[in-house]
Amino acid sequence: MKKVIFGLVVSLGVSGVAFAKGDANAGQAKVATCTACHGATGVSLVPNYPNLAGQGQRYLVKQITEIKAGNRSVPEMTPFVGSLTKQDIEDIAAFYASQPAPQGVADPKLVALGEQLYRFGDQKKGIPACSACHSPSGQGNSLAGFPQISGQHAQYTAKQLRDFREGDRENDGDTKVMRTIAEKLSNKEVDALASYISGLR
Ligand code: HEC
Ligand code: HEC
Repeated sequence: MKKVIFGLVVSLGVSGVAFAKGDANAGQAKVATCTACHGATGVSLVPNYPNLAGQGQRYLVKQITEIKAGNRSVPEMTPFVGSLTKQDIEDIAAFYASQPAPQGVADPKLVALGEQLYRFGDQKKGIPACSACHSPSGQGNSLAGFPQISGQHAQYTAKQLRDFREGDRENDGDTKVMRTIAEKLSNKEVDALASYISGLR
């Protein structure tokens, strides 16, 4: 019995910790080239550059790794991610994850439709409630890799939903979880959701 348990621990250790876990302090020193667009602490001043502060670590590692590999196309970042090692990516993700998340303000005219869709989805159109995965507060589920979306720039969020819808962003895995949802959203629904989510907390 002991041997089995020991074997399990060892194999987890080997597959999961091939390199050290992220170190936020080390990460802070590695984001110098990122701050021009994403801000010193991951709160960006430009609405098409996403906020990264408070984002889940697992999601950040996945995105930086996939942007580097070209599985998610972000041409603006090509010069900055090519030389990042696995350890750099872990450290940078730990740094941004440790920073306080920003808070935006929703357009009052868009709140009703945005909130309805976010909390309840639309059964007739087959749209699930966003809150089921991204949580009622929009903080997501960091262990599951479901991103925090609250407080994000509405312009960025709307672009992601359109990119998923048109298939311009396809790094949501074999289940196509976000592409399947986004293809059911109209432009009006995208804009309402993006605005509502920016003010969510
Ligand atoms: C020249 C501007 C620029 C620089 C410099 C830059 N980024 Fe980005 N980054 C972007 C843009 C633009 C996007 C979003 C593209 C899109 O619309 O999908 C993005 C997206 C991201 C995302 C995905 C966020 C999410 O919520 O999915 C992460 C993570 C990220 N950048 C990390 C970094 C890191 C780490 C660096 C430094 C090594 C960096 N970026 C440097 C412009 C930049
Ligand atoms: C079944 C779970 C699930 C549901 C329901 C869901 N999402 Fe997602 N969403 C995800 C996952 C997982 C990702 C990350 C995909 C990846 O790894 O690139 C994601 C990514 C996103 C992103 C990109 C975040 C970023 O920083 O780039 C946005 C925006 C988003 N979802 C909005 C929504 C909205 C709006 C709804 C409701 C209409 C919704 N999601 C419903 C699982 C879900």
